[in-house]
Amino acid sequence: MPVTALVSAKSAGVTTAALALTLASKRPSLLAECDPAGGTIRAGFLQGQVGAGYGLYHLAAAERTGSDALANAFANHLWPMDEAGHRKLLPGLTDPAQAAALGRTWPALSEVMHVLADEAGYDVFIDAGRLAIESGRLHTTLTPAPLLHRADLVLMVVRGTEQALTLARHLVDPLRTELADRGSGPDALGLLLIEDGQYRAHQVAEALKTPVLAALPWDPDTASYFTNGGRPPRGYGRSPLLRHARTATEQFEAAASRRHIQQQYPPRPANPQLAGVLQRLSEKGGSRG
Ligand SMILES: Nc1ncnc2c1ncn2[C@@H]1O[C@H](COP(=O)(O)OP(=O)(O)O)[C@@H](O)[C@H]1O
Ligand SMILES: [Mg+2]
Repeated sequence: MPVTALVSAKSAGVTTAALALTLASKRPSLLAECDPAGGTIRAGFLQGQVGAGYGLYHLAAAERTGSDALANAFANHLWPMDEAGHRKLLPGLTDPAQAAALGRTWPALSEVMHVLADEAGYDVFIDAGRLAIESGRLHTTLTPAPLLHRADLVLMVVRGTEQALTLARHLVDPLRTELADRGSGPDALGLLLIEDGQYRAHQVAEALKTPVLAALPWDPDTASYFTNGGRPPRGYGRSPLLRHARTATEQFEAAASRRHIQQQYPPRPANPQLAGVLQRLSEKGGSRG
């Protein structure tokens, strides 16, 4: 299954979309909250249920011990978002100052995510926050650049408004160039349209010269639940946002498979240690901690 990274030009709905996709997927799924500006799900959707002892920041120290330690810590820092434990969250940073410590952790973390996707069949979604470009390149502290380089799909989340398109226009080209030069190829880049504003998918695709791989509806009730937590709104399970998110996960899977076929990727070298830990993780199911 694909590892899909979501980014924005400016707050557009990345976290909301990532939650919707993770909760709607037909497959086991993981949301890795890797926004260097700090995570919002812990205080928002989860309303403080998860303490600061949990999450992404702790993986930096584990990575320094070795890849097996990282894989173990990764498994121990996932928070189940459903009873069965099929939908997991890696909670994000509690303080943006922590981002610098993760600079050298991203490549190994990416490896773990790909093993989870390839060997355990997870749909992996990365909340990569807002893009920051410096001298035409991805900023090394303000973005989790290695996660974007290695993702099967990198989706720029945009709204169909004039303001959103104006900002996104300046970021699409440097991002595509970065993926061509240092990533898995320029065709990893796609758009996820949030249907707010006057522009339709074909117009957005044309304006940004990038394919729209899926669209999510404007759905304030469901989005507000994902942003603030609390009680799910009436009819949540059949809400427009969740239903379209489910379709979107299929569209991403299809787009990622097309890329794999076209590129004829060499199979990733198996890492038996990592795969073993992830096997244990799958068996652990819904137990918290
Ligand atoms: N599809 C949507 N429909 C309605 N409101 C949305 C939608 N997506 C996001 N929002 C709202 O927009 C705001 C920003 O969303 P968020 O996901 O936090 O953006 P980002 O992570 O890009 O900063 C939040 O108040 C959220 O509830
Ligand atoms: Mg966010």
